[in-house]
Amino acid sequence: MEKRISGFSKMDRQQQMDWLLAVHLDNDPGHREVLEQYLLPDPQLQQLHGQFAENTITNYLLPFSIAPNFIINGKPHSIPMVIEESSVVAAASKAAKFWSLRGGFQTEVVDTIKVGQVHFTYTGTGQQLKDFFAFAKAQLQATLAPLSASMEKRGGGLIDIELRDKTADLDHYYQLHCSFRTADAMGANYINTCLEAVASRLRELAAEHLKGDLEVVMSILSNYVPQCIVRASVWCPVSDLGTVNGLTGEHFARKFVQALEIARIEPYRAVTHNKGIMNGVDAVVLATGNDFRAVAAGVHAYASRDGQYRSLSTASVKDGIFNFSIELPLALGTVGGLTKLHPLVRTSLAILDQPTASQLMEIVAVAGLAQNFGAIHSLVTTGIQKGHMKMHLRNLITQLEASPSEMQELLARFKDRDVSATAVREELELLRA
Ligand code: MEV
Repeated sequence: MEKRISGFSKMDRQQQMDWLLAVHLDNDPGHREVLEQYLLPDPQLQQLHGQFAENTITNYLLPFSIAPNFIINGKPHSIPMVIEESSVVAAASKAAKFWSLRGGFQTEVVDTIKVGQVHFTYTGTGQQLKDFFAFAKAQLQATLAPLSASMEKRGGGLIDIELRDKTADLDHYYQLHCSFRTADAMGANYINTCLEAVASRLRELAAEHLKGDLEVVMSILSNYVPQCIVRASVWCPVSDLGTVNGLTGEHFARKFVQALEIARIEPYRAVTHNKGIMNGVDAVVLATGNDFRAVAAGVHAYASRDGQYRSLSTASVKDGIFNFSIELPLALGTVGGLTKLHPLVRTSLAILDQPTASQLMEIVAVAGLAQNFGAIHSLVTTGIQKGHMKMHLRNLITQLEASPSEMQELLARFKDRDVSATAVREELELLRA
């Protein structure tokens, strides 16, 4: 059957689903049932969700969970997390409780500067361009006045426009490197609108006042935000760590610091280490309707800022004090985007007490640090599989198509036993026999 189609986006949802079933799924009633099951019964709500993307056939659900008991700068928080991986929310909650008894998390937003660039080529000399920019800069800035009025009222707006000469790396290549603050908005639309206005004014001014050809290649914000930084940390006397999964506090702290040193110098480990941090970061970023792809791209670039990919967190023991902290670049918003549109995002922000963007940066960094603490805590003591498989137990039992009563019985039987896929299957066979 012909699998190419024109006019797909013009069809309504039912037609798209019928086409998909006929062409790709052999009209299997099982697949139709699944696709239809995940549609929301409320047509208005379904329409709203469908509109978040194009060609929406149905919805894809992820668990919306709560990790309670976070103390951040002395204030209690319950953190909403959207994630499909077993044990992430449990690990975050456990770390939150552990640190709530040891002073909680401390945070600090270092700055919130974001960047966008107009990338262009110029055939004249660097000096000609420099002279032209000295004359044009004020007019380029003035172009943004009407676009920035409401952003400026909220404390944001353009900070500066710099001309950057990149011709050493690429022939004829220059940039207008523009920096902004965007208050409580993530700011992508605002920045991109400003950049396109600057680019268009640049073209006009160059046509009138500059010898040589200037061509704008593109104008776009950067998701690399090394000046939009938040720090989160925890600390306590080593003696307050207590016995951790059978290790003395001192032994635990030593192994913990070693694990962090390994993640600092060894990229294979650093990537997994940071993936654990992103388990917490992404889950809160998603729950609050922020762009997790932008955050991930920026965070991983920041982890490589000195030329080698390294851990985003650090740990030390000095004068008997265990210190554990993280520094993350996070461009987040609590207004605009999905924040008003998605009902669950509105609920997430209400749970978090309507945070400002800076406060959300702090909460997300804390979730990343807590997640990282949970992972390293397990890795240097019991290993992660013990806890992980326990959390995964329900999924394993479900995969074996156990009845609800078999589920309850198996959960009870594995309460104090190590979990593995084979052990669960054998136990179910025994139970059925
Ligand atoms: C699994 O999702 C995350 C971990 O691998 C993180 C880590 O190794 O630090 C447990």
